[in-house]
Amino acid sequence: MKYGEIEKIAKESLSEKRFLHSLGVAKKAVELAKIYGEDEEKAKKIGIAHDIAKELPKEDALDYVKKHNIILDDIEQQEPGLWHSKIGAYMTMEKFDFTKDMAQSIVNHTTGNINMTLMDKIIFLADKIEDNRSTEAYIKAREVAKTDLDEAILIIEKEAVKYCLTKNSLIHTNTIELMNKIILENRHKENEK
Ligand SMILES: [Fe+2]
Ligand SMILES: [Fe+2]
Repeated sequence: MKYGEIEKIAKESLSEKRFLHSLGVAKKAVELAKIYGEDEEKAKKIGIAHDIAKELPKEDALDYVKKHNIILDDIEQQEPGLWHSKIGAYMTMEKFDFTKDMAQSIVNHTTGNINMTLMDKIIFLADKIEDNRSTEAYIKAREVAKTDLDEAILIIEKEAVKYCLTKNSLIHTNTIELMNKIILENRHKENEK
């Protein structure tokens, strides 16, 4: 499906605030794709569609999960805020003809994952550092992302852990694993100097 059609459906399906956020993610994803040599058109499509399932009523979300045999892990089951990643991935394959790779970036946009592709990293970051976001850590990550995606991701994941602690939310193991991976890689780089 063409970008314009996806944007139209996103506008109809989302609140104004979330639609503006999605436009911001699409724009930032294109900026990052340009810097790092990824497909800009694909980045834009994934960006506008990434939160397409975020505002589904809980009952509808659960129905969708059942109907499509979507497997939510133990932590996801306890945190409804995480459901829209896997549901959104299925929806975009079903409605927007997204490829598996594109949908995978939507699966990974919330918690991150140690096996993220370049596109996954771009979408993960664009979601947090798009221009409507004003959290101090996100503003810092916005600058860092221009030269170092992994370092920017580490800033975001540290912020995610802090957020979960203050909200008494469960911290997804994907977040911890990804932080540890980047910290260890940085350590190796330091040792090689
Ligand atoms: Fe999201
Ligand atoms: Fe988002």
